[in-house]
Amino acid sequence: MAEAKKAGGLAGVTAGTTAVCTVGKEGVGLTYRGYSIEDLAQHATFEEVAFLLLRGNLPNAAELNEYKARLRGMQALPAELKQTLELIPAGTHQMDVLRTGCSMLGTLEPEDEGRTQLDAADRLIASFGSMLTYWHHFHATGTRIETQTDQDTVAGHFLQLLHGKAPDDTMRRVLDVSLILYAEHEFNASTFTSRVIVATLADYYSGITGGIGALRGPLHGGANEAAMELIERFSSPEEAETGIMKLLEEKAKIMGFGHRVYRDRDPRSDIIQVWAKQLAEQHGDKTLYPVAERIEAIMRREKKLFPNLDFYSAIAYHFCGIPTPMFTPLFVISRTAGWSAHIFEQRADNRLIRPSADYTGPEQRPYPPLAERG
Ligand code: COA
Repeated sequence: MAEAKKAGGLAGVTAGTTAVCTVGKEGVGLTYRGYSIEDLAQHATFEEVAFLLLRGNLPNAAELNEYKARLRGMQALPAELKQTLELIPAGTHQMDVLRTGCSMLGTLEPEDEGRTQLDAADRLIASFGSMLTYWHHFHATGTRIETQTDQDTVAGHFLQLLHGKAPDDTMRRVLDVSLILYAEHEFNASTFTSRVIVATLADYYSGITGGIGALRGPLHGGANEAAMELIERFSSPEEAETGIMKLLEEKAKIMGFGHRVYRDRDPRSDIIQVWAKQLAEQHGDKTLYPVAERIEAIMRREKKLFPNLDFYSAIAYHFCGIPTPMFTPLFVISRTAGWSAHIFEQRADNRLIRPSADYTGPEQRPYPPLAERG
């Protein structure tokens, strides 16, 4: 029992091996297939990172151009999928839009002899942004947008569809960097979910659909939306001081802080914070960024907790003109690369994932006939 309690939430339990990524290993930090997150965020694009995660190595220049053209060729949505998106009610949680879109695409373009898991992964990475913005514009204005663009980056494609014009270079790069940072994170809850699903020999789309479901919750991906809602509650750092102290007294969880694996800092947060600050300055912001900085200071002072990737990503997305309900769906677009790499790895050396549980229920007892029950 003591052991089971200690491992609550499987904390500290090694549940398998992976060659895709290490998280917070002392002296190593976060790496994707051996490359540090700092190097990738500084020098790479999301397409290079997706190629690396899915295919195991960085592309050369010709391979990268080919890959970008391949993704561009996969942006358009089939008519049946558009019809499905139109049927999803306005006001639906936007993670449910992608969960449904993913599931529907799995019925239209299932894995078969002509379509590999790699094709399916590239297709989802290229078209999730199309699904989200198609649904958004249809329900906001009744417009059926054209989802094929001339943008050859996932970030540029999404921003162009959202705003209806070619994206600003800084915003495109900020989104690109955030997609790199969100792409992979070892055995996190959603990735583990995807691995459990495909370990039963279920299809690829079931693995991704389940991953989206796990990512939706505020303890995982949903934290970036919750962080934005929190920051926007306060109109000055002083108000934030009072408000956060009150929340802490009430023992509330402050979204965007803390981490299961990291103890002192989330290396991804430092990277996105620089970009969030730059965008805030560009927009002449005098409220949101100072409020966020104050919340960070309070959390360090009162709880010794540090911001995770979700906290300053929220500010960065906000200043890219992205509506808050789209924050976690953007995480989906990016993490599909990581989920898929893990699905491929699981399938390559599969065994059903089925842990044990310590039983805490009643001893065996006689079955009482219905008439004798009180
Ligand atoms: N706000 C306030 N207190 C927090 C906190 C937060 N964001 N994160 C952790 N704590 C506190 C807990 O209340 C707990 O205190 P206690 O020991 O006095 O009860 C302690 O720190 C340990 O937290 P716990 O929830 O057990 O840690 P965990 O490893 O299970 O959870 C998270 C990790 C990420 C789920 C947790 O830090 C959290 O809920 N963060 C907010 C959601 C979030 O940002 N998620 C995105 C993660 S990338």
